[in-house]
Amino acid sequence: MSRTLALVTGASSGIGAAYARLLAPDHDLVLVARRADRLNDLADRLRAAGAAVEVLVADLSSHDGLAAVTGRLAAGDVRLLISNAGVGGYAPLTDVAPDEIDRLLTLNAVAPIQLARAALPGMLAADEGTVVTIASLLAFSGGRDNPNMPRRTLYAAAKAATVAFTRTLAGELADTAVRAQVVCPGIVATDWNGGFGRTIPSAMSPEDVASAGLASLRLGETVCVPGLEDQGAALKALSDAESALMDHGARPSPATRYQH
Ligand SMILES: NC(=O)c1ccc[n+]([C@@H]2O[C@H](COP(=O)([O-])OP(=O)(O)OC[C@H]3O[C@@H](n4cnc5c(N)ncnc54)[C@H](OP(=O)(O)O)[C@@H]3O)[C@@H](O)[C@H]2O)c1
Repeated sequence: MSRTLALVTGASSGIGAAYARLLAPDHDLVLVARRADRLNDLADRLRAAGAAVEVLVADLSSHDGLAAVTGRLAAGDVRLLISNAGVGGYAPLTDVAPDEIDRLLTLNAVAPIQLARAALPGMLAADEGTVVTIASLLAFSGGRDNPNMPRRTLYAAAKAATVAFTRTLAGELADTAVRAQVVCPGIVATDWNGGFGRTIPSAMSPEDVASAGLASLRLGETVCVPGLEDQGAALKALSDAESALMDHGARPSPATRYQH
């Protein structure tokens, strides 16, 4: 059986490492992150399990790091892209340094788009490929005004962009053999955001998130919420609300309440 090539970002820990471990039995891998030691440890273990593994050390919040990974994808041989690298960066917006805004949005939102853009030509030419991005349930949290939730403007904006990007891209690719999927976990027990998920007993394991994401691909889903039982109904309600806004909001005159 032929092995396909997968590139996983954020493979040095958590959800990305879990994807790499689950994929290794039938995929060769390109592992991307900043911590070379952790990537090399994982690569050694996956090679022992039979996978051919490349390590690509790159900071995806920087132009050079993005160029290194888009350059690798431009070779056209990657058939499964898993854009998973991300950070929380939770803080009130006025506490975020202006240059940190660029870095956070580049890593969490721009990188998945640039990597997809670089991977797609090879996938389309091969009539085979899948672009997966790991977002978050916080993508849907803009309307939540709960003081116990983290201050998260940049994170929610980036993950919401990722969800909109993937859903729209899936439509754009509908007539092709290439698929797009976004995975929106709740709280996951990883090192992420200071490892706070590890302190929450109900957090999902990274292995379960990755395994659900791969099962969701087999089901042909574009959006995967690993913990959501009745996902079909929730996504239909979301799409119905979006249609109501789009269909009834695009009119030539302002709504009655604005006509005073
Ligand atoms: N844990 C949660 O509760 C949770 C919930 C919903 C969504 N998510 C999302 O899941 C994804 C994975 O997070 P995780 O929970 O697995 O956390 P994690 O264990 O902290 O993993 C984050 C990964 O991203 C990589 N990364 C961070 N900054 C990077 C950069 N500038 N350039 C390249 N790689 C970078 C890290 O590697 P290096 O440090 O080696 O670069 C690491 O491999 C993230 O996108 C996160 O937003 C997490």
